[in-house]
This record gives sequence, structure tokens and C-alpha cells, in this order.
Amino acid sequence: MKLQNDLILRAARGESTERAPVWVMRQAGRVLAEYRATRAQAGSFKNLLMNPELAAAVTIQPVDIFGVDAAILFSDILVIPEAMGLPYRMDEGKGPSFDQTITSARVVDQLSTDNVLENLRYVFDAIDHIKRDLSDRVPLIGFAGAPWTIFCYMVEGRGSKTFSLSRAMLSKDPELAHRLLSRITEATIVYLKEQINHGCNMVQLFDSWAGILNKDTYEQFALPYIQKICDAITEVPVTVFAKGAFFSLEAMGKLNCRTIGIDWHTSPGFARQAIGESKTLQGNLDPAVLYGSESFIIQQTERMLDAFGGRQYIANLGHGVYPDIDPGKLKLFIQTVQAYQYKPS
Ligand code: CP3
Repeated sequence: MKLQNDLILRAARGESTERAPVWVMRQAGRVLAEYRATRAQAGSFKNLLMNPELAAAVTIQPVDIFGVDAAILFSDILVIPEAMGLPYRMDEGKGPSFDQTITSARVVDQLSTDNVLENLRYVFDAIDHIKRDLSDRVPLIGFAGAPWTIFCYMVEGRGSKTFSLSRAMLSKDPELAHRLLSRITEATIVYLKEQINHGCNMVQLFDSWAGILNKDTYEQFALPYIQKICDAITEVPVTVFAKGAFFSLEAMGKLNCRTIGIDWHTSPGFARQAIGESKTLQGNLDPAVLYGSESFIIQQTERMLDAFGGRQYIANLGHGVYPDIDPGKLKLFIQTVQAYQYKPS
């Protein structure tokens, strides 16, 4: 089947598009009352993502309600540690946590990458449902956490402001860190390839905790593993979103991926200059702009569109949408992008 709207794939490949495609990180989530209702029906967040029919329903809600140019699989990055043998909990209002964490080589060696596909069958079933119900209206984005961010959760056991246990391991036992990062990378490649086998049209790596490292540590412990994943995924365009990694944008320009996600701390001009001309850029409106008035949202969105320019560009926020944003304001952002006419240069 041919996609009815393939703007985002064309933009990712660097081809010209009539207008900028737009989607929003965390578009399938609490910002929508329809999501909250489906989650209540499922009983919990984990029940929701493990139920292929309901996971498909919340994946498609933002396509129906906002008219975004892509759907993103409803799941979580933490399914990978769980599939390797470290189960997580998602407690209401508290975020994710792991009972067991990585403290030694012995625990790393107990992890298994053998059953990743079997353990994540519910994700692939969800993708099958989504592909059927989406009927090729827009592309489907698959995703995984980047190895460094997954490492942080596995070592820390929960979110943290500084992830100092994770950073401590880089100083105290870099060999152990590399061993764990390699295992995560292995599992992630297998996982993403299977998402693609089931019909994901592009994939994104989320490196949410990139910004707690520096150029040296990021390029030693994070980028080489992202590079391995990018080299292994040849079937569809790959996007790398490393939040806070302004210091390594130049190195990211050399990755074997098509698109680099830009957070809201980084100006479009700075990003383009550091990365060079070879990549498509994605981003980067500050999600907090959506708390502003309608005229402010339109003005800031148009400013962003002008700053990135009309080529090699996918519009998005600079991180996930906040759950208490008015969905009407999010829709205004999307419609402003879709209506925008670039002035001929
Ligand atoms: O719409 C989408 O973007 C697709 C679904 C998606 C979710 N999580 C659903 C979710 C995606 C792509 C993710 C990725 C994810 N998960 C990241 C990387 C992106 C980022 O935000 O930096 C991270 C760090 C996680 C781990 C995670 N999952 C945390 C820290 C939390 C709790 C934080 C919070 O907002 O409460 C989650 C839970 C989560 N994942 C929710 C959703 C919709 C909220 C859970 C709920 O419904 O209560």
C-alpha cells in the first residue's frame, strides 16, 4: 500500500516538500482526554501499552484529533530493560522505577538478549494493529531509548536530576559501563529491526539524558553505541534526538542517520552550522510556548519555521508536550506549521 501522506519520509530523506511536516513528541499521551479515558479503561499505563488493541487506539488518537503528519508507536523506552530481565514499575505520579539495578558485572551477565523479541511480542502485535487501523494515512514512527539513557535507568533504578550513580560508573568502572552499553545496543538493534519488519516507516532514538554528560564522555560512552545502531538500521530513515547534547552536534553530523532532533535550548542556526548540510533537522519549539496566548504561539511557531528554513526540516517541539497543555493550543501549533507558506528565497 502506498502512503497517502509521506511528507515526513521525504523530508527525512532530504527531498523537497510542499510544506514542513509536523508531529509532536508525546503526542500520544496525557495531553488528550481521549488518552486518559483509554488508560482508565486499561487500568494502568503498563496494561495500556501491553494491550495491542488499546495501544493502537491511543497511537491513532493524535492523527484523528490533531491531523499530525505521522503517528508514533505508543510504548515506552523502558520495555527494553524489562525484556532483558529487569522489570520496571510505573507508579501514578511517581514515574518509572526498577526494584533491581545494575551494580556489578554479575548482574550484567545475568541479563539476557535472547528473548527480547519473544518478550516484546505485545509491541509487535500493537504495530500490526496500528498498521491495519491507520490504513496508510500517515507513516508510523517506531522508537527506542538510546543506550546511554537506558543505561541511566538500569543503573539508577529511577529518574534522577543528576544520574550520579550512572556517571560514577563511568569514572569507577568504565569497562563495566561499556559491557552494559554493548548489551543494551545489541537488544535495541534486534528490537528496532523487528519494529521495521512489522511496518514502522522510520525510527527515532531518544537520548533523553545526553545533557548530563560532556563532549568527552558523550563521545566515549554514548555516541559510539548510537553509531552502531545507525549503521545496523539500513531499512528506514533514523532520527537521533539527544536532549542537551549541543556539545556533540558536530559529531552527530557524521552519524549514519538521516535526521537530528534539536531541543529547545539550541538555536536552529547554531544546530545547522554545527551539523552541516547533510542532515534533516527536527524540532524545536519550547513546549512552554504552548502556555502562551494564541497570537504568541503563532508568532513563535512562524519564527521557528523561518529560522530552520523550508528544506530538510521536520517541525516538532523541543521535547515532549507537557500533560497540562491545552490540546487546543497544541492543535494551533500543528495547524500553524501546516498552513505556513515559506517566502520564495
Ligand atoms: O507519544 C509519544 O511520544 C509515544 C509514546 C512514548 C511514551 N514514552 C509514552 C509515555 C514515548 C516515545 C516515550 C519515550 C520515553 N519514555 C522517554 C524518552 C522521551 C523523553 O520524554 O525524553 C523516556 C525518558 C521515557 C521514560 C518514562 N516513561 C518516564 C520518565 C515516564 C514518566 C514521566 C511522566 O511524564 O509521567 C514515562 C511514562 C510515560 N510514557 C507516559 C506516556 C504517555 C505517561 C504515563 C501516564 O500515562 O501516566
